[in-house]
Amino acid sequence: MNLFTPIQLGDYTLRNRIVMAPMTRSRADSQGVTSSLTAEYYGQRADAGLIISEGTAPSAMGLGYARTPGIYNEAQIASWKPVTEAVHARGGRIFLQVMHVGRISHSANRTIPDAPVAPSGIPAAGMMWTDSLGMQPNDTPRALELDEIPSVTAEYASATRNALAAGFDGVELHAASGYLPNQFLSPDANQRTDSYGGSIENRIRFVVETLEAMIAAAGSPGKVGIKVSPGMKFNDINDADPIPTYVALARAISRLQPAYLHVMRAGIGAETSLREAFGGTFLVGGGFRKEEAEATLAAGGADGIVFGSSYIANPDLVRRLETGAPLNQPSPATFYTPGPVGYTDYPFLA
Ligand SMILES: Cc1cc2nc3c(=O)[nH]c(=O)nc-3n(C[C@H](O)[C@H](O)[C@H](O)COP(=O)(O)O)c2cc1C
Repeated sequence: MNLFTPIQLGDYTLRNRIVMAPMTRSRADSQGVTSSLTAEYYGQRADAGLIISEGTAPSAMGLGYARTPGIYNEAQIASWKPVTEAVHARGGRIFLQVMHVGRISHSANRTIPDAPVAPSGIPAAGMMWTDSLGMQPNDTPRALELDEIPSVTAEYASATRNALAAGFDGVELHAASGYLPNQFLSPDANQRTDSYGGSIENRIRFVVETLEAMIAAAGSPGKVGIKVSPGMKFNDINDADPIPTYVALARAISRLQPAYLHVMRAGIGAETSLREAFGGTFLVGGGFRKEEAEATLAAGGADGIVFGSSYIANPDLVRRLETGAPLNQPSPATFYTPGPVGYTDYPFLA
């Protein structure tokens, strides 16, 4: 078994085990609508076994970064259709990553005046880019009321229906990187004293219920995956002891039988215990190159390998991995800038 061995992932047979990581590229407009450039970008990368899209907001409340897309209105849904068509035209598969930023947000990037929401009213340390004001500190969020939480979960369900209507093969719940679900999981960002805070069982509740709602909306667990990043401190997450929480989460979601569990490595060695606790299709990413990817698959450490920045720079990454051709180097200066430069213009092998 190697990177080029087909794999059953949920409802789909993927032609290889190379997965394109979800990556925010900030090429949408200020209303979260994508353009034909985005269809070209994903279409170029369609020979991945699976593409996971950039983080996409399930509601105006969940959108916090400049020029990031949404999946909550007709214009946004329509703008994604050429993207899924471009990927399917080349025989590829694409899941939409549903990303609610929670407290990682600034008013200058938002389409509504409301303050962002989070498990608790605690701002995240850190700055984010805004097109009108440059770098700004994250806004202070408002704590969600207990009786509001089902409506947030319902936004994820509605985003799931909209994604399938736009032609996506499935959806990924973004529970990593310090965004809303990760804020619920983490005892520093989540200081609630109700049934969504405190104990491990309470802190994982939001994520489990949201995944359940997405599966119900999709009509099949095989169309829904989830990403986590235990131990990652990005976006002011400071969880002193993450592994027990994530093992409990992996056990709780295993009974829902989602398409996969996707773990972004953060150097704390959580992967083995999570793979064991989950028991289903397991994807891992974070700094992989070909040799380590092949070794991880061969050792049974994962079922598929997720490639991030190397997929930005190499539209034909599958062919390069197959042939051992050298990789283009990504240019971080154009990760989040509008337009084709550093987006659709990385060279293919001759
Ligand atoms: C430009 C950029 C944008 C990213 N945006 C997202 C995102 O929207 N959602 C997400 O889950 N991870 C995001 N990530 C993290 C990647 O999915 C991946 O986990 C990370 O890059 C590690 O893989 P790598 O070392 O192969 O790049 C982003 C990474 C990069 C480089």
